[in-house]
Amino acid sequence: MLERVLSLRRGTTSPDDGDDDGAGGGDESKTRKHASFAIRATNYMTRTGYLWPCLILALVLLVISSVIIHTRDLVCVSSVSSFDPASRLRFFGFDGLDSDFGSLGVPWCKSKHGKTVEWTSKDLLKGLEEFVPIYETRPIKNNMYGMGFDHSFGLWFMARWLKPDLMIESGAFKGHSTWVLRQAMPYTRILSITPRHPEKYLKKGPAYVDQNCTYFAGKDFVDFGSVDWGSVMKKHGVTDLSRVLVFFDDHQNELKRLKQALRAGFKHLVFEDNYDTGTGDHYSLRQICDQSYIRGGGHSCFKDGDEARVRSRRRKFWEKAVDIKELCGPGEAWWGVRGHMRDDFNHSNKAITHAQHFQNSRFVESILDVYWELPPVAGPSLTHQSRYDPARVTSPIVEDGRYGLFQRLGLSRLESSVFNGYTQMSDTRLPLHPIPLNLKDVVSRPFCCEEQWSARFTEVKAEALWLGGSEPGNPSLSSVSLRLRTLFFSSSVERVDEEEEEEILSELLSIEEASDKPM
Ligand SMILES: C[S@@+](CC[C@H](N)C(=O)[O-])C[C@H]1O[C@@H](n2cnc3c(N)ncnc32)[C@H](O)[C@@H]1O
Ligand SMILES: *[C@@H]1O[C@H](CO)[C@@H](O)[C@H](O)[C@H]1NC(C)=O
Ligand SMILES: *[C@@H]1O[C@H](CO)[C@@H](O)[C@H](O)[C@H]1NC(C)=O
Repeated sequence: MLERVLSLRRGTTSPDDGDDDGAGGGDESKTRKHASFAIRATNYMTRTGYLWPCLILALVLLVISSVIIHTRDLVCVSSVSSFDPASRLRFFGFDGLDSDFGSLGVPWCKSKHGKTVEWTSKDLLKGLEEFVPIYETRPIKNNMYGMGFDHSFGLWFMARWLKPDLMIESGAFKGHSTWVLRQAMPYTRILSITPRHPEKYLKKGPAYVDQNCTYFAGKDFVDFGSVDWGSVMKKHGVTDLSRVLVFFDDHQNELKRLKQALRAGFKHLVFEDNYDTGTGDHYSLRQICDQSYIRGGGHSCFKDGDEARVRSRRRKFWEKAVDIKELCGPGEAWWGVRGHMRDDFNHSNKAITHAQHFQNSRFVESILDVYWELPPVAGPSLTHQSRYDPARVTSPIVEDGRYGLFQRLGLSRLESSVFNGYTQMSDTRLPLHPIPLNLKDVVSRPFCCEEQWSARFTEVKAEALWLGGSEPGNPSLSSVSLRLRTLFFSSSVERVDEEEEEEILSELLSIEEASDKPM
């Protein structure tokens, strides 16, 4: 049934509708577009010799920008922030909040067919209006180390929009996110995986224990990657895995989680802490996708270059801005993760080469159907947040300067500390019908080492992956081809599990035998 819904969504979503709604995944800021128009107009006039119109235009631009600067100052005057407010105020004044957006880039993961989510910034605004009063009734008022307002809203919004048949969360802490999921879907079953049962926190203060939730907690705790999902889904009567929403807030390597979800057959994942390049305690999708070929993300490790200058300037104003020297490897190689795939709250980190890191970005993008990042709910001059750098995020739902709207939505009633935990929560979807690989070709040749695996993949990809379009395949074939792809890539990171390899190969052969046409 969801397939129908999804194809309908596909039909109504234009691949590049980021232009008319800030939430749609376009990564160009409106400010930037206006600026380039002005530059083009000025160039044109200079070329054609219209000096006067050119001067008048400059004057008009000057007036407009001074008005903008003035408005921003007015908004900022009321702000009291812990992170060097005075200099940030000056910073806003002449530089604009997100004026460096283009030079730093937002590492948006590309999805194969350029698909994006079906909601618009209008839907997000409407959602906000509804969610603020709900948030005010939350049982855990002070959720330090847990989710703040932005992501609570994002999770609630996505769960309510997608209306899953089952919700799974990994990492519950005192249960705030369980409560958020419950607000979105009052009668839907939740499975919560978390080492310490939220009821344990009740002794010391507020916590939330849900009545329609199965807890894999305490002595029943099993890591997401070790759960026998086939039997758990059967037990809960779930037959369509695409109707399940999986939410991760467990600070594990997101590539690891992505592969585990892929193997289990889940299609719809939400990652809470999608940390920016150079920050965070686990390997994230955003770090993985922050590679130079991505639009708007052309990084440079040249220490006297623009990026280095912009970064060191922004470092003074935003806690999580990162210097170029912290991001570049030997030989001025950009890679951003400082040599490690962080995992498990930074407790178990694996060394990673730049080549592997880059390969991971290819893998992630080869399996993404939709990728979307939740924008911050409101601009930093409204929320007084000082942590994330606005140059590294898409336009907020309520943009800076729109205090009236901020107030009308009830956001001004919330304590400003609830806005300081924004980390680009992401909505990640895997394809319903992965395109079959040319399996015969893949399995008929021996393979030995990492280089061969990746060369083979590139070859196979060229042959089959993007050529076939989204032709619905035999479902078991699809799942096998996905597993094979997972295997391909895990082999470039870890050792291939030989038993699994055997299993997949024999499965492939039996499918090939049963099928007439070459795959
Ligand atoms: C940041 S907190 C979660 C916050 C929570 N979602 C909220 O809304 O406040 C991370 C949680 O992950 C739990 N955790 C640690 N390792 C885990 C694992 N392997 N699987 C699931 N949860 C894990 C921790 O015990 C902690 O409760
Ligand atoms: C619990 O979840 C099941 C499955 O979604 C649902 O049918 C049932 O009505 C829920 N029960 C309550 C008390 O919400
Ligand atoms: C993560 O651990 C490394 C050492 O393995 C340390 O240098 C780094 O500061 C830690 N980062 C965070 C965010 O905890």
